[in-house]
Amino acid sequence: MDGAMPVSESPRPWPQAASRVPYWIYSDPDIYSSEMEKIFYGPHWCYVGLECEIPEVGNYKTTSVGERAVIMVRADDGEVYVVENRCAHRGAQFCRDKFGQAKEFACPYHQWVYALDGELMGVPFRRGVKRKGGMPKEFDPKANGLKRLRVEIVNGVVWATFSEETPDFRSYLGERMWAHYTRVYDGRPLKVLGYNRQHIPANWKLMMENIKDSYHPGLLHVFFSTFGLFRADQESATEVDETGRHGILISRKGEKEANDVSTSIRSFDADLELADPRIIDYHHEWPTPQTVGMITIFPSVILQQQTNSLSTRQILPKGPGGFDFIWTHWGYKDDDEAMTQRRLRQANLFGPAGLVSADDGEIIEFSQQAFEAYQNRETMIEMGGHDVECTDYMITETAIRGMYAYYRQVMGF
Ligand SMILES: [Fe+2]
Repeated sequence: MDGAMPVSESPRPWPQAASRVPYWIYSDPDIYSSEMEKIFYGPHWCYVGLECEIPEVGNYKTTSVGERAVIMVRADDGEVYVVENRCAHRGAQFCRDKFGQAKEFACPYHQWVYALDGELMGVPFRRGVKRKGGMPKEFDPKANGLKRLRVEIVNGVVWATFSEETPDFRSYLGERMWAHYTRVYDGRPLKVLGYNRQHIPANWKLMMENIKDSYHPGLLHVFFSTFGLFRADQESATEVDETGRHGILISRKGEKEANDVSTSIRSFDADLELADPRIIDYHHEWPTPQTVGMITIFPSVILQQQTNSLSTRQILPKGPGGFDFIWTHWGYKDDDEAMTQRRLRQANLFGPAGLVSADDGEIIEFSQQAFEAYQNRETMIEMGGHDVECTDYMITETAIRGMYAYYRQVMGF
């Protein structure tokens, strides 16, 4: 844990216990601005992409860290850089393609030109025309390149941070989460299988909460409860790191069965049958028997392993009331064709229209609607008590409490 975290004074008092969350943190624009500064631009690693998305020199991908547009690019020295997509001159976001191949970057406004690593290479009419106009003599191009973020590439995943205070990525995760991270991101080269993009009209924190919430999957998701992928009577665990900010939901797949637990779930439907059962055809491939490992890496990304379906789900906040959600479905580069097809089939459970994930996007929107209509109300996160701990059961909100324990510290609540 990084001990240097500044704790500032709160403009609004937190209502009472750590197991209650006030609605106004989801709708107040001042709190949102403060989250951008203290969280997304503060001492945290944010996800920007997979290294395999930019294999060749000149390949780039545009994305954002918080609301700030950045470019992840492989420069002439072969290294990956993350630079701001913001011209040093007048601030224009000059690179508009999602992906591309470039020798250099040029801003269309006044054609300032940057090398791939962000260095300023050219300023048209820098010395004026006929000795009139131009930049002042003391203008130093070396000091006016694109701002570079700190970058760490960890087993194929590219992380960036604006802060000099952010500890190295492994320390940032903590050893417990590091073990979960490296179980799936084990150093084997990755390949992208496809993308989904959606906008969800709900506060960004609700997506983090959703994936830390082990209580809901067996209830909200008819597909999970019915076909036995994630149900309250199955072997499971919830873990958090020392700070509480990161977490993982672990579960082990069962079978479709009518038992005491499943028949008590309103969404369980014994009559449903899969026309093509290959969609849940799980193939054991990692050292531990868990079939679900949903990691939340605060604040920017969810790393999904659900049966053999793998994805990163990036959170790009767009004001307090919405965020873009970018799904990158991936596999290992050395997967055979059968495994690639299996991962692609299983990916139909996820994404904006997924048989499971469509439920989440919609339900957090319903919560957001209440948060915007009321001010002085609170949500309850008391399932499993008031503590933050690792558990070997699902009916708990401990990982959400963990995130808010950390959030209150960073935000000064
Ligand atoms: Fe869910």
